[in-house]
Formats: sequence, C-alpha cells, structure tokens
Amino acid sequence: MDDTPRGLDLGRLIEQVDQGGDLHQVRQDFTRFMMRYRFGMDEVVTKLSILRDEYAHLHEENPIENISSRLKRPESIVEKMSRKGTEPSFASIEKTITDIAGVRVTCSFVSDVRQVFDQLCGQADVTVVDVRDYIENPKPNGYRSLHALVEVPVFLTDGPAPVLVEVQMRTIAMDFWASTEHKIFYKYRDAVPQSLLDGLKEAAGTAAVLDARMEELHTKMRTASVLPREIEDELRCDEALVPDETFLRRLHQMGDV
Ligand code: GTP
Ligand code: MG
Repeated sequence: MDDTPRGLDLGRLIEQVDQGGDLHQVRQDFTRFMMRYRFGMDEVVTKLSILRDEYAHLHEENPIENISSRLKRPESIVEKMSRKGTEPSFASIEKTITDIAGVRVTCSFVSDVRQVFDQLCGQADVTVVDVRDYIENPKPNGYRSLHALVEVPVFLTDGPAPVLVEVQMRTIAMDFWASTEHKIFYKYRDAVPQSLLDGLKEAAGTAAVLDARMEELHTKMRTASVLPREIEDELRCDEALVPDETFLRRLHQMGDV
C-alpha cells in the first residue's frame, strides 16, 4: 500500500496557492496528513497511560510521573523544512521531519526511564526506528534524555498506516533542566550570554548528580523490609475495579451452595 496520503503533493499544492488556487483543498490535504500523526501520537499516549494505570492499580511503585504530547505546528514544520532543505512534498516531510508527533514521559529515577523504554519499545506493534541515548552520552551543552523514534500502526478506513512518533523519556531533574534551557534560548534566541551557557552546563552536572543520589536512595528504600502498604488510596479513583465487602461475601456464599 502507498503510505503517502492519497494524491498529496505539496509542490503541486504550493503551485496552486501561488496561482490563487484552491486553498480549501490545501487545508484539507494538510489536515489529513497531520491527522495520521495525531492518531499515532494518541496510540503511544494510550500505551503509556495503560502502563501507568496498571502500575498505579497493581504495583507498589509507578515509574511514570507524567505523560505529555504535542503535534508540531504547521509553521514549525515549514521552518524546519527550510532549515533542513526538505523538498515540498509530503513524502519528503515524512522522511526528514521525524518529530511531527512528539510524546514526553517523565519519571522520578533513571532506572524508571529505562524500564518504561523497555516496556514501550518491547511491544509487538511498536517498531523502534532510532534510539538516541543522551543519558549515556549527554549533549555538549549538558542535555540529557532518552529519545526513541518509534513507528506504530494506525488503522484508518482504507487500512493500516505506519506513523512515526518521537518519544522523549527523562527524569524530573532532566526535564527541569531542559525546560529552563528552552526558556533561556527562547528569550535570548541565538545570543545566549556565555555566563548563562556555563551556568546551564554546570546545572546539568548538578542535575545528573541529583539523579544518581536519588537512584541510590531509591535502591536502598526498595531493599528495605517494610510493612505492606495500603493500596486502597490509589484504587479509589476507579471503584469498579475494586471488589467491595458485599461482593466478596456473595462470592463466598455462592461457593457454599
Ligand atoms: P531537532 O532538529 O532539534 O529536532 O534535533 P534532531 O532532530 O537532530 O534530534 P535531537 O535528538 O537532537 O533533538 C530532538 C528533540 O530533543 C528536540 O526537538 C528537543 O525537543 C529535544 N532536545 C534536543 N536537544 C536539546 C537541548 O539541548 N535542549 C533542550 N531543551 N531540548 C533538546
Ligand atoms: Mg527533532
């Protein structure tokens, strides 16, 4: 099956626009192109939400703190196309701009990041296309995160379509650093003062030390023998999942019959 949405040729569409052509058609085709990314992104978010909810209900600890997602805005796509010299066709955009659908997962500990990575990327319908381990190999500016470019199938009216989704997995400390760095770059554009760059690099080191220290505490806590925790609190959010006293009594009575 041809993966490119039916009849989509951005070059042709641009020509049409230049000649005062049908803008409505351009909009519709672009929307169809973007929708597949939204569906793929939703699939990945659902997969992660299922993992998070299962942990919340059935396990002592939950490695997933937060899940967020975003679709790249059309103007950012165009900006990146010109930066990367992408040809104006949907096929070229698909190939060169791999972060149209983005999902971000934050965890408390580095070991949790790795665990979530394994549990997502090990799923049968998830194909791992590329992995960038900026935790093992931080960027020169200090950026740390684990990136996985994955392909998931979305099932459309005319059959399945593979969709690329960029998943960024990081600790809360890494996320704090990245969002601060992003804010600084947004404010100063490309002219960030050297003192701030140095400060960021140093803060990245501090965040890495904090992550290591927290991991140690976490390991100690895990190996300590403690009384089993009441899990009722976490279950309260979804009462249908929790059998109540009456249910258990009736079940017991049925066994007596
Ligand atoms: P982009 O063209 O920026 O998408 O980079 P890339 O396609 O070469 O991939 P890379 O793995 O370098 O970055 C992918 C994404 O990770 C970026 O779009 C950001 O969301 C995030 N990222 C990468 N490097 C940094 C960084 O130094 N600081 C922050 N705040 N985010 C970063
Ligand atoms: Mg990118």
